[in-house]
Amino acid sequence: MKIVFLGATGMVGSGTLREALNDIDVETVLSVGRRSCGLVHPKLQELILPDLFEIGRIEDQLSGYDACIWALGISSAGMKEPEYKRITEDLTLLWARTLLRLNPTFSFCYCSAAGAGGRWMWARVRQRVENAVQKMQFLHAGAVRPGFIQPGPGISSRVRLYQVAIEILRPVFPLGVRLWPSLFTTSERLGRTMLRVVKGETNRFILESSDINRLAQ
Ligand SMILES: NC(=O)c1ccc[n+]([C@@H]2O[C@H](COP(=O)([O-])OP(=O)(O)OC[C@H]3O[C@@H](n4cnc5c(N)ncnc54)[C@H](OP(=O)(O)O)[C@@H]3O)[C@@H](O)[C@H]2O)c1
Repeated sequence: MKIVFLGATGMVGSGTLREALNDIDVETVLSVGRRSCGLVHPKLQELILPDLFEIGRIEDQLSGYDACIWALGISSAGMKEPEYKRITEDLTLLWARTLLRLNPTFSFCYCSAAGAGGRWMWARVRQRVENAVQKMQFLHAGAVRPGFIQPGPGISSRVRLYQVAIEILRPVFPLGVRLWPSLFTTSERLGRTMLRVVKGETNRFILESSDINRLAQ
């Protein structure tokens, strides 16, 4: 399987990329981002594109792939809807549609968040993205909705708010994952589940933390 990977420099992305590179079914990972993820691995290739809206500039290098793992995302803290929607919805769907046009037999896993579909602005935007991805003609598709994520060794968030939360929760993560699997998961399990989605190993489209934990066993 050949994967196009977005968000490799982030917390979710770095954990999922690690799982992808260790997966025997994964032949190549093409990481696309505005900066390098800093990893060197025989399966990994990188494309740097400072503005990801300019996908047209690299379209000729995006054919011949089987799936996309979308771990790119932002926090809505302090943002108005148009600004949040631009990255969360417009950028995601631009890439999803372009990749599907270039690779007609293609699978897509979107990293959403626990609470998507609720009343808050961010939750409504997230659900619109999930719905749009679900309607596209992907071979396999899914949206993971993690809650609290116990980061694997050497993994941290680039979002200040998440960094603080991780430090506060660090002592309770192992207990949380064991006792409250509907709220907590680990970056390893999340990564394995995103891979299972694009391999077609689940029929569920929305995967909450409890689904992520079950599927990653
Ligand atoms: N971490 C958690 O606990 C958690 C829990 C639930 C859901 N999530 C969701 O998971 C997704 C990833 O979260 P994360 O914690 O991994 O975030 P993160 O550590 O901040 O990483 C975000 C990733 O998205 C990229 N990105 C953001 N804005 C971009 C832009 N305008 N252009 C290009 N790349 C951009 C970043 O690239 P750069 O390095 O170039 O900035 C980075 O690779 C988000 O949607 C988040 O809401 C996270």
